[in-house]
Amino acid sequence: MTSLPSSTALIDRFGRKVDYLRISITDRCDFRCVYCMAEDMTFLPRSQVLTLEEIYTLAHGFVELGVKKIRVTGGEPLVRKGALDLLANIGALEGLKELVITTNGSQLKSLASQLKESGVKRINISLDTLDSDKFKAITRTGDLQDVLEGIQAAKAEGFERIKINAVILKGRNHLEVNNLVQFAVDNEIDISFIEEMPLGIVTQHDRTDAYYPSHLIQADLAQQFALIPSIEKTGGPSNYFKVAGTQTRVGFISPHSDNFCSTCNRVRLTVEGRLLLCLGNEHSVDLKAVLRAYPGDSDKLKQAIIDAMLIKPEKHEFNIHEQPIILRYMNMTGG
Ligand code: GTP
Ligand code: 5AD
Ligand code: SF4
Repeated sequence: MTSLPSSTALIDRFGRKVDYLRISITDRCDFRCVYCMAEDMTFLPRSQVLTLEEIYTLAHGFVELGVKKIRVTGGEPLVRKGALDLLANIGALEGLKELVITTNGSQLKSLASQLKESGVKRINISLDTLDSDKFKAITRTGDLQDVLEGIQAAKAEGFERIKINAVILKGRNHLEVNNLVQFAVDNEIDISFIEEMPLGIVTQHDRTDAYYPSHLIQADLAQQFALIPSIEKTGGPSNYFKVAGTQTRVGFISPHSDNFCSTCNRVRLTVEGRLLLCLGNEHSVDLKAVLRAYPGDSDKLKQAIIDAMLIKPEKHEFNIHEQPIILRYMNMTGG
């Protein structure tokens, strides 16, 4: 058996070190957000989905190769049966520095305490509006009150940080950015504003018309808040500002107006076991096939991961003015 290089193995052709893995543990979700999914979705059959054991084995391989941060995503990760045990097992991996999760918040009211126990350090919660009718319109099936109560339950557990993610769409929620920041300030949590990315075909709005770039949000916020540029990073694509005199950081995730690909440190594992080297490209490697062809052979798996770095693209090719070239919806990757 070959012996593999360990901690510094995951370097791509552009010299970027990959130490952040995002794992989508289910494509299913109890919401149907208009920027993420079509109204009628077909989800993957069970046979195509990684088992919890397979996900753990993959996470283990990545951590042995130097991954320091794992973010568990979905769909909605907390709707998968066994998610909490899986999180606890991943959280116990030696060498992993940070286990974090991105959730729609719908289950937090009942699960926040178990989530804290599982070793999750930070939570990112999607919340695009504080208006319950608009919330229903954006999520199609969600209930704002559940999520607000979920945020309170998470706060009560004392996670290291909680961050709201708000995808801002012109004409839908762009007038709410100040209210959302005020909510974050009042609750002593962070918030990131996200420019919508063109993944999959959506029917409820035109992505060109709905584009609301980060600099416009910044101008809107300047009317009510003093934002101080910050060099703080969380390992993701947010560019942060501090709201003067508060605990709150406001981040901007600007795939269109401020490309961040040159500092990309992450790859994604879909629940089908496909390792996606970039959110905005289809370059991928079928790790499920490797796992199932060579059960128990961790060197084979790790070699496949190392080799995958050679096809990591330089940058995404998103263009909101054209039909999306990426037909997979965001629920396949959890962002
Ligand atoms: P932190 O650890 O708090 O920095 O979180 P994060 O921003 O890495 O993760 P989160 O799941 O909160 O993602 C927020 C938004 O950033 C989502 O809309 C993601 O799709 C987007 N995002 C994260 N990584 C990338 C990336 O590599 N490329 C692009 N285009 N978007 C990304
Ligand atoms: N563009 C940008 N962000 C998106 N998200 C889901 N779909 C999109 C999209 N098309 C966000 C969710 C969640 C995060 C993981 O990704 O709101 O906060
Ligand atoms: Fe579900 Fe998140 Fe997609 Fe909304 S954005 S439908 S909460 S996976």
